[in-house]
Amino acid sequence: MNPATAMPEFDLVLRNAQAVTASDTFFCDIGVRAGRIVQLGFGLGPGAREVDAAGRAVTPGGVDAHCHLDQPMEPPVRMADDFESGTKSAACGGTTTVIPFAAQAKGQSLRDAVHDYHARSEGKACIDYSFHLIVSDPTPQVLKEELPALIREGYTSFKLYMTYDDLKLNDSQMLDLFDIAREHGAMAMVHAENSDCIEWLTKRLEGSGRIAPRYHAHARPMLVEREATHRAIALSELVDVPILIVHVSGKEAVEQIRWGRGLGLKVFAETCPQYLFLTAEDLGIDDSYHGARCVCSPPPRDKANQEVIWDALADGLFTVFSSDHAPFRLDAPEGKRPGGKEVPFRHIPNGIPGIETRMALLWSEGVLAGRITPQKFVELTATNPAKAYGLHPRKGTIAVGADADLVIWDEREFILTNKQLHHAVDYTPYEGMLLSAWPGMTICRGEIVWDGSHFTGRAGYGRFLPRAGPSLLPKKRG
Ligand code: URP
Ligand code: ZN
Ligand code: ZN
Repeated sequence: MNPATAMPEFDLVLRNAQAVTASDTFFCDIGVRAGRIVQLGFGLGPGAREVDAAGRAVTPGGVDAHCHLDQPMEPPVRMADDFESGTKSAACGGTTTVIPFAAQAKGQSLRDAVHDYHARSEGKACIDYSFHLIVSDPTPQVLKEELPALIREGYTSFKLYMTYDDLKLNDSQMLDLFDIAREHGAMAMVHAENSDCIEWLTKRLEGSGRIAPRYHAHARPMLVEREATHRAIALSELVDVPILIVHVSGKEAVEQIRWGRGLGLKVFAETCPQYLFLTAEDLGIDDSYHGARCVCSPPPRDKANQEVIWDALADGLFTVFSSDHAPFRLDAPEGKRPGGKEVPFRHIPNGIPGIETRMALLWSEGVLAGRITPQKFVELTATNPAKAYGLHPRKGTIAVGADADLVIWDEREFILTNKQLHHAVDYTPYEGMLLSAWPGMTICRGEIVWDGSHFTGRAGYGRFLPRAGPSLLPKKRG
């Protein structure tokens, strides 16, 4: 039968794919119907649309489980990316699902924070999305009613902060929240930095006039992260609950996580591109304000710490690799120059963009540079985030029945510039890097949303995903 004239059996067929999952690489055609993968095999029947992947690697679409989009900020600061620009940018970089944060302000009900965040995302997302919660005010109402109800409704993860005045929790509040995570089967994510140490160091730096962006890294040395990581693990041990430490930056925090794991504790961990590709020198080697572009917390460390993070990615210490995209314009009064001024490092909005570059940085410098296997790449960028946050097996894998969220990789050298990116931020911290790969196509639920040179999706296509509990650990019978 001539496939060109035969009735299509599929909406889309990807032919000759070198499919990569977290466990295998296999050659096959991928048949898609109604947004799902319905067949994997050789010589599949015709599709209404056909794409020849011609031996190129095809991975699951990325699941970016840590990014910030249109998160409410204290004026004049405002995030540059809303759900439309942020998810468009994600799609063009090979990500098909994002999980940003519905953040509770102190005094606000958690339910209101979730309503507000739905209003911000409604009709805007170009790819699928869900929300983590940020709990900053664990009142009795939140602990007894709102949080358990929201977990039941599919908001099965929440982030706790050990620093930032408007978000931080004390140990007793953390214990209360860990207890809720345990009782209701949610994943507790922890931002581990010791707030009092940061404040003490910041005041000393300010007292001696050291307020340039580069001193941000001096105010948050590795010790500050090490202590908080240790404490978070100890608190989770007391409650007997799995936790996930987010944005781990270097050796001393990695050692604490290895220590916890060695005791048999269920400590999961995340790292991000900034800890592989940036160092504290990117915050400035002099007092120039340009370093504000790389101010994030924890701060990037040094080359030796980058190596520790690479090793820990390869050896399985890290569970997930996220962008921690926190989009603030560099040259803007609502961004890194609040009110149009160069401000002391204390007041520089924390965070850097990276939602579009996450996947290519790791495929290029991890897989193609021989630091991690293609399977490890898939595990870190798609399968494990989907498992950790209750989206697997619908998301994060190439399997019959899974959503047809796929990336076809182009391997070619090019110089990365911000001009080619689709976020609303006026810079990328990775400007000028030589990369060897970029997604040649991104497919979200069977629709091509990035064709290798253009965004081909649309705002409103993305669906909100209520989530199950984490599935990283075996379940007890009964
Ligand atoms: O500096 C960072 N990472 N900003 C984003 C907020 C957070 O703590 O993840
Ligand atoms: Zn954080
Ligand atoms: Zn973050």
